[in-house]
Amino acid sequence: MPTRLLRWPAAVLAAAVLSALIPPGCATGPKTLASHDAQVKPILAKMTLDEKIGQMTQPDLDYINDPADVTNLFIGSVLSGGSSDPKEGNSLQAWTDTYDRLQQQALKTRLGIPILYGVDAVHGHNNVLGAVIFPHNVGLGCTRNPALVEKIGRVTAEEVRATGIQWTFAPSVAAPQDIRWGRTYEGFSEDPVLVQQLGEAATRGLQGPDLASPLSVLACAKHYVGDGGTTYVVGPDGKGHLDQGDTKVDEQTLRKIHLPGYVTTVKAGVGAIMPSYNSWNGVKASASRRLLTEILKEELGFQGFLISDYNALDQIKPGDFKTSIEISINAGMDMAMVPGSYKTFISRLKELVQEGRVPMSRIDDAVTRILRVKFAMGLMDKSRPPLADRSLHKSFGSPERRQVARQAVRESLVLLKNERQALPVSKSAARIHVAGKNADDIGNQCGGWTIDWQGKSGPVTTGGTTILAAIRSAVSSNTQVTFSKDGSGAQGATLGIAVIGELPYAEMHGDRSDLALDKEDLSTVANLKKAGIPVVAVLVSGRPMIINEALAQADAFVAAWLPGTEGQGVSDVLFGDYKPTGKLSFSWPRSMDQLPLNVNLPAAGYDPLFKYGYGLSW
Ligand code: GLC
Repeated sequence: MPTRLLRWPAAVLAAAVLSALIPPGCATGPKTLASHDAQVKPILAKMTLDEKIGQMTQPDLDYINDPADVTNLFIGSVLSGGSSDPKEGNSLQAWTDTYDRLQQQALKTRLGIPILYGVDAVHGHNNVLGAVIFPHNVGLGCTRNPALVEKIGRVTAEEVRATGIQWTFAPSVAAPQDIRWGRTYEGFSEDPVLVQQLGEAATRGLQGPDLASPLSVLACAKHYVGDGGTTYVVGPDGKGHLDQGDTKVDEQTLRKIHLPGYVTTVKAGVGAIMPSYNSWNGVKASASRRLLTEILKEELGFQGFLISDYNALDQIKPGDFKTSIEISINAGMDMAMVPGSYKTFISRLKELVQEGRVPMSRIDDAVTRILRVKFAMGLMDKSRPPLADRSLHKSFGSPERRQVARQAVRESLVLLKNERQALPVSKSAARIHVAGKNADDIGNQCGGWTIDWQGKSGPVTTGGTTILAAIRSAVSSNTQVTFSKDGSGAQGATLGIAVIGELPYAEMHGDRSDLALDKEDLSTVANLKKAGIPVVAVLVSGRPMIINEALAQADAFVAAWLPGTEGQGVSDVLFGDYKPTGKLSFSWPRSMDQLPLNVNLPAAGYDPLFKYGYGLSW
């Protein structure tokens, strides 16, 4: 076997060989989506062009000034983007009422085809107050536990369905190759084999054994394809940029690193896939017939539908919006996420069909794919009104579900250093001094995509347990726990715990040219060190950071990633109730000039501070 092929991880090779054996248009799910075509055909035959184009149109809640638009324009789907919330606020009630109100509008149409309502439930139902917020994927990658990731998908699906909503734009199956990218934390790993395993597990959890179950949601693998492989550039603003950039790789590399997550999620029967903003060698993924139709639909046999990213059609240049629509729909896009331009989209697409620039066969294929999914989900079953089942409210955010998240936090932590037996900490220590900006802040430990698109510091986001509160609840009644954000006042304590790292961000707002700890964190750790006590550092961040100085000063160092609402998962490890098992899913650099740094690059230059797969225990 040629040596180059030997570099392909065996699982990727096996998946690629298997997918090559699948005849085009034949997914291998237990009940394939295409098996619903006999039910689709008669409906499609009686649909008007307006009704067909309406199914292909997805506005955002924020821009729907008149809910009757859903009826009058035959809208097939509505989304709420990261900060697009009900006017009445983010309560479980408000979300459920909003869903029902829009669904009732859809049921007033001639054919009464229900809408699919989509949200970014990417680490729990993170738009809704009181939801269980799980660790972001960067931490789940360190668990190496597909069964747990599937369970998280299951719980997330049940929390989402409690609001009536039936579609999440997850899982991300990006394979981030450069941790300067602001979406690194949405990826499971730099390693495509791990991405495959956990992406498939997440899809199975979300969609369940049967998409028609009232506790299943439609999953959406994203962002197709190569979103994690863009080239770092310094923009006119002097800042580093990766997000929505250009992935400059040959097709073999694209298939080896960025395609695997789609091979397995398609095999698992994923019903939707979201083409990416990024380009592949200068061509927008959302405009590429090679990517959308030839590889994904024909070669891999994807039978569901493609949903564009948020206003991604606007980025297709040159040409006006109408030309962008023509290019993307003819390339294979099936539904357009056109948050505020949905009326223009509808009228331009209708013109394109009437002018023969978009063939009716393409419209019929797109609508067939959308209706296949709606049949598979039981949405077309007139005996099952598609309104919310409010009996699911009683278990929303339940203690049992929080235990699943707590276990995920425990298993995601990676122990990078432990000297002088600093860890585990005794629960009966006389005094523990806690410090750091991320010690007592639910918003910071949840990160982006939490209530708000960008996330938000402070308790304002949702319920949960901060790491400080978890430490307080873990220790004996004789132990004193003191806190100062800057680490002052630690003198005389048994030990100090500094919880440091990043503040919340999402997407391009997280692109960085420098990942060094900020001065505040360095000062916090130094203040604990100056107190002459053992120092434990806990890093709450969306990715590896440059930690050399703090690492040298700390006796123990734990990477906690973005753990979400269940901070007790962190204290479980710190106090030894759970031995650390986490293994790095990203390589950890010594300095910024090593980036990009990952296991897929030539072995010669690979010299990380901590290797991919590193993790200590005791
Ligand atoms: C965003 C993201 C995508 C998300 C979509 C809807 O810009 O790129 O991941 O699903 O818009 O919020």
